[in-house]
This record gives sequence, structure tokens and C-alpha cells, in this order.
Amino acid sequence: MSSAQTQSLGLGLRFTGASKTYGTVEALRPTDLAVNPGEFLTLLGPSGSGKTTLLNLAAGYLEPTSGSVFIGERDVTRVPARRRNVGMVFQNYALFPHMTVANNVAYGLKVRGLPKAEVERRVAAALALVQLDDFGGRAIQQLSGGQQQRVALARALVIEPDVLLMDEPLGALDRQLRKIVQLELRRLHEAHRRTTVYVTHDQEEALVLSDRVAVMRNGRVVQIGTAAELYGRPADAFVAGFIGESNLLPAKVTAVTSGTAEAEVPALGRRVTSDVLPGLAVGAPARLLIRPEHLQLDPAGEALEATVEEVVYLGELVALTLVLADGTRLWLRRFADREIPRGARVRVGWLPDALRILPEQ
Ligand SMILES: Nc1ncnc2c1ncn2[C@@H]1O[C@H](COP(=O)(O)OP(=O)(O)OP(=O)(O)O)[C@@H](O)[C@H]1O
Ligand SMILES: [Mg+2]
Repeated sequence: MSSAQTQSLGLGLRFTGASKTYGTVEALRPTDLAVNPGEFLTLLGPSGSGKTTLLNLAAGYLEPTSGSVFIGERDVTRVPARRRNVGMVFQNYALFPHMTVANNVAYGLKVRGLPKAEVERRVAAALALVQLDDFGGRAIQQLSGGQQQRVALARALVIEPDVLLMDEPLGALDRQLRKIVQLELRRLHEAHRRTTVYVTHDQEEALVLSDRVAVMRNGRVVQIGTAAELYGRPADAFVAGFIGESNLLPAKVTAVTSGTAEAEVPALGRRVTSDVLPGLAVGAPARLLIRPEHLQLDPAGEALEATVEEVVYLGELVALTLVLADGTRLWLRRFADREIPRGARVRVGWLPDALRILPEQ
């Protein structure tokens, strides 16, 4: 048994300059990334962005083309998967269909040569953890998808991994079940604080589960941060579009000083300013980000004429699609404190401090 701290937090996971290329395909460009002990980090990105590649480098199913992987202080770059003490959960469960639930969970302990009594004790504990106490004797085919996924989770947890890796584990479940298992995963993580790297392309899932999210695109980690950081201070228009709802208006940078960027926004017919970000330069293509909750209907100050094209009531909130004179569409969200008919002529303004000029990508 490891020390109390190691048990409750697992070990940190660190990539330094880790890359993977296949011929001319750069599946993962040189990446530095540190997952803290006990942290739940999600890799979020579109298909082909390198999520599975990064996870497989941690698991030891792939060796990096360059760079290193550390678990705790140990350089595991050339250590095979079975000597890393990582737990892996796959999208398709990868359970042994002809074994019982208990034997599936016991497998990793048996190959490690643990005594029978200890195997039985730990299997029972792992099944209790995922709330499948009475299912040990069942055949895998007699379980629902959600139950099978929990067996896969128990099998990964039973070895008390230093790092738990999950690659789209809920991908095969329907939406409702996915929500339930998501909350279970969160509860399990809060109880055990095992270092976890989780892959998904579902932003909502990432925000529900994670301490931090790493957004990936084209084999790169574009930005890493908490949900609030990614939402409030996205590094570029891609991240802004991937996290939450957004209006991203074409813009052109006209001036950059030490602290402030200024951009021309044709749809608004004016120049705006916001904090300067890396990648913003005079003449460079940019986007103006306005979150739907930062648009205001019929404000006292300056505003543009717009027509209400669509009205969707979301309980206490209402979502409006507005069309400006030049055809630009804006999404606005506000409290549903008054009836707004489709086709209404309105004025739309914005909170100037909430505007963000972002590099295109
Ligand atoms: N064995 C391989 N040979 C060649 N190219 C590969 C191989 N494995 C992955 N790639 C390429 O590397 C890139 C990253 O793949 P990866 O599987 O990491 O993406 P992903 O983010 O997990 O995508 P998805 O969401 O579809 O699972 C892709 O362009 C993919 O085509
Ligand atoms: Mg993948």
C-alpha cells in the first residue's frame, strides 16, 4: 500500500515536449501539459484533434516520437503499459464477454498475482463503489450499457491506479443515462480524488465533470483552464466557439498598444476596444466575441436597430435571434420578463466591458 497522500490523490501526470507523428501526420505536436495529483482534467476537442493520441501516450499504448511522459517523478516514456499502474476505460467497454462481472473486474488483480482472498475483497469493494454490489455473478451480456460501463470503471479502479484514463467512456450511452453516469463519475472522483484524464468532444460533459479542461485542435492543446476561465477569457475564436454559446463577429485589428487592442467591426459599424491577447496584430483577422447574455434589449445608451427573427422560451430565460440591417444574426439571452413577439423591431446594445477581440485561430 502506498502512502495516504498517494492513495487519496494518485500521482501527477506530466508531458514534456511529447509528440506523435505518423509519416507526415502530426497526430500530436510537441506538447507540455501537467495534470495535478487528484485533478480531473478533460481533453476536449473535435474529431482528429489528438485526444486519444495524448491519452495513449499516458497509458503506454503508444510511444512518443519525441519528448517524455512522467507519472509522479518517474519517467515512464519507455515503460510498457502493464508496468505503469494506470487504469483505462474505453468507449466500447472492452469487457471480456464470456466472463462474469466479478471475473472481469478481477482480471487485472489476477495477472498481478494477488492472493485469492485479497482479489475477492477488492473486487467486492470496486463493485460496491460503482453500485453493482449484487451483480458479480452475472454474465456481461445480461447487463445494460450503463451497467457494462460501470463494470469497465470498476475494472479500471480495482487496481488502485495512480492515474485513471477514460476515452469517451459514455459515448455509447443514450443521453439520459449519460447524465446519470456523469454524476456518478463526479461523485466517485470527489470521494477518491484519483488523478483523472477524461476525453470527450461534448462540451457540456467536460464542464460538468472537470476541474480543468484542455481544449485541443489540430494536435495542439490550444488552451487549458477552468470552465469559468475558458468561458470568460478564451484565447481565440475557436475556444470561444467551442465553450458555451457565442456571437463571433468578423473584425479587423486597427491598433494594438501594450494593454489594449482596437478593432473595426463592420456588423456593428464601429470600432471597439478590449484587452490585448497574443496573436492580435494590426491587420490580422479577428473576431469580436459577445456572449448572448451580454447583449441588451432596448438599452438607454447606444444601440443598433434589429428585427426579432426567433423567440425561444427556456423557462425563466428567453433566447432571441436578432437580425441587424446588414443581415448579421445575433443571439441574445435575457430574463423572460416581458413578451417579445417575432418580427418586433427592437434596439440592441451591449456591455462594452464584456466585449472581447479574439485572434481568428
Ligand atoms: N495509427 C495511425 N496512423 C496514422 N494516423 C493516425 C493514426 N492514429 C491517429 N492518426 C491521426 O492522428 C490524428 C489524431 O488522432 P486521434 O485519434 O488522437 O484523434 P481524436 O481527437 O481522438 O479524435 P476522435 O474524437 O475522432 O476520437 C488524426 O488526424 C488521425 O487521423
Ligand atoms: Mg479519439
